[in-house]
Amino acid sequence: MSAASPKTRVLTGITTTGTPHLGNYVGAIKPAIAASQDPSVQSYYFLADLHALIKCQDPKRVQESRLEIAATWLALGLDTDNAIFYRQSDIPEIPELTWMLSCVCAKGLMNRAHAYKAAVAENEAAGNQDPDKGITMGLFGYPVLMAADILMFNANKVPVGRDQIQHIEMARDMGGRFNHLYKGEFFTLPEAVVDDDVAVLGGLDGRKMSKSYNNTIPLFVSEKKLLKLVRKIKTNSLEPGEPKDPEGCTLFQIYSAFANREEREAMRREYANGIGWGEVKNRLFEHLNEQLREPRERYVALMEDPGHIESVLLKGAERARAEAAPFMDRLRQAVGLGRFA
Ligand code: TRP
Repeated sequence: MSAASPKTRVLTGITTTGTPHLGNYVGAIKPAIAASQDPSVQSYYFLADLHALIKCQDPKRVQESRLEIAATWLALGLDTDNAIFYRQSDIPEIPELTWMLSCVCAKGLMNRAHAYKAAVAENEAAGNQDPDKGITMGLFGYPVLMAADILMFNANKVPVGRDQIQHIEMARDMGGRFNHLYKGEFFTLPEAVVDDDVAVLGGLDGRKMSKSYNNTIPLFVSEKKLLKLVRKIKTNSLEPGEPKDPEGCTLFQIYSAFANREEREAMRREYANGIGWGEVKNRLFEHLNEQLREPRERYVALMEDPGHIESVLLKGAERARAEAAPFMDRLRQAVGLGRFA
């Protein structure tokens, strides 16, 4: 790619309400860090901490999660000279753009958002008189904030999970509407990128590993805790010596996500030969532990140095604002909020 050709802008946000787990790593963090090493890409990765307030009103949890997620991405090797890594709440232009987009976004569009519809459906199922019971404006307008995150940096591609595709479509809708109303190519219309090849890991109980199911294996727990959690993963009652099916087996699936092809095939043969579940668990633990040991050490050191993380994020915010602030000036001008002289 020639120096003059603009880089593809890849942007994604991580809601800061949980502790990163193996499923997050395999499904999102690892591919994002790999993508950020591509010289034809400029990546924007941010802690979606304003989004966190929608779901979590425990200040300690939000604060802790922000630090843990930042430390995790850094420990796993995100190069912040390359990727622009920042906190959403450090960019005041984002809430400002959220307002501008709210003023061009049809309320009916928000009525159709999955997260809102699910909350209404839950109220209805519970027989509540008010279908909007307990639903905040934050939840209702969530896709507008997300559109502002994306449009602020004119992202071309937004890697997300399937559940988020609708939000990217809504961002396109709002961006297109703004462009049309104010007669200019202000916003690039983003595309969702959903990678069907990345594994969706199962959790301790065999359902998808997810904070909402409380079945996760956090990435950087101690060795002892990691072993304990691996031992908890649900299996069937086949005895050692009986051949086992790796397909649909959570242990095999997690092992595979951290293994190369040879290791995977070797494990597949072990299953056919009737390896016992206890032994599979021991090997899975050894394998995970070996791969996580070094980043875990970096993580522990980073968690003990929040000042360093703070300075990394402030540098990221400075880079992000170097784009957002002049762009916001242009947008203010466009809507009639420019300076008089
Ligand atoms: N809503 C996303 C999620 O829950 C997180 C997010 C916030 C995001 N803003 C974003 C993702 C912008 C991509 C782009 O997963």
